[in-house]
Amino acid sequence: MADKIPPVQLSKSQFNLVGRSVVTLDDVSAPQISYLLRKARYISDHLPEVSQAAAGKILATLFYEPSTRTRLSFETAMLRLGGHVIGFAGAQNASVSKGESIADTLKTVANYADVVAIRHPKEGAALVASKSVDIPVINAGDGGHMHPTQTLADLATLQSRFSRITDLTIGLCGDLTFGRTVHSLIETLCRFGNVKFVLISPKELKMPQYVLDRIKASQSCTYEEVTDLTAVIGDLDALYMTRVQKERFFNEDDYLRLRDTYILDAAKLKLAKPTMAVLHPLPRVNEIATEVDSDPRAAYFEQVKNGMLMRMALMSSVLGVKLPGFAEDDTKEVRA
Ligand code: NCD
Repeated sequence: MADKIPPVQLSKSQFNLVGRSVVTLDDVSAPQISYLLRKARYISDHLPEVSQAAAGKILATLFYEPSTRTRLSFETAMLRLGGHVIGFAGAQNASVSKGESIADTLKTVANYADVVAIRHPKEGAALVASKSVDIPVINAGDGGHMHPTQTLADLATLQSRFSRITDLTIGLCGDLTFGRTVHSLIETLCRFGNVKFVLISPKELKMPQYVLDRIKASQSCTYEEVTDLTAVIGDLDALYMTRVQKERFFNEDDYLRLRDTYILDAAKLKLAKPTMAVLHPLPRVNEIATEVDSDPRAAYFEQVKNGMLMRMALMSSVLGVKLPGFAEDDTKEVRA
């Protein structure tokens, strides 16, 4: 992770994320997001030094929906901070299959763990979870709604590629209706400003109105909605591809008809700027040909690494554990 993260002047209390639940990144101020970016970069450069910072702390991962990266990323983040992990993956083995409510599960788990990461197929589940207990609850994806820690990974990747997260033209392509990662990312970038969003989707999978309203309400961000990726790819600084979210479709035929609408391959990349970054939250299905992986513009495996580092930054912050050598309230390790 590289380069200029704007120096942040925060008072001690503004730094304080201790005990904070994160359901959306609106729960974290813009200066605190910059602080997390700086902290993640420090962690990246000082993994041995931080490896015992959260000794004795326990993360519970409550994953009611499939996941590879996000769950393993949270778990690795905690292990790399010296803490421990409990949890379940797949609701079928948990008491929810007996009819237990989210609130009751959380009230139970809060006796065991210091921080919770929860993924659930229902929008709003993480909010319910966070209201049920006093320990920090981090939303690891709630239905088609939000995925704030993926956004932290995305921001870190944009920052490392462009040394900024503003003044960019960003294409978001694919399933903009159900793709929660793009909703979170737009919500957050709107707070930093000066982003032009190019929303590329079939008409059946357009961005929800509440996200468009968010862009309209921002001072300096704009959007256009298009259907043709090749017509706009040359204008983009970053292209964020998404998977068509099969599990959120009501009808298999619609999914089959729409899933291969956009496939980014080497031929399409020829039309793009040489510096364009290709992001994808993963998993991919068909939407990025594997031949793109070896192109220097492919940034999606960097995103994975950045996700772990940002989760380390976030969890250490909400747990209130100190990272040896990290200057909480000054900018001395910010490199120009
Ligand atoms: C995304 C998700 O779960 O929303 N994956 C992830 O967390 N990295 C994207 C997806 O599943 O398509």
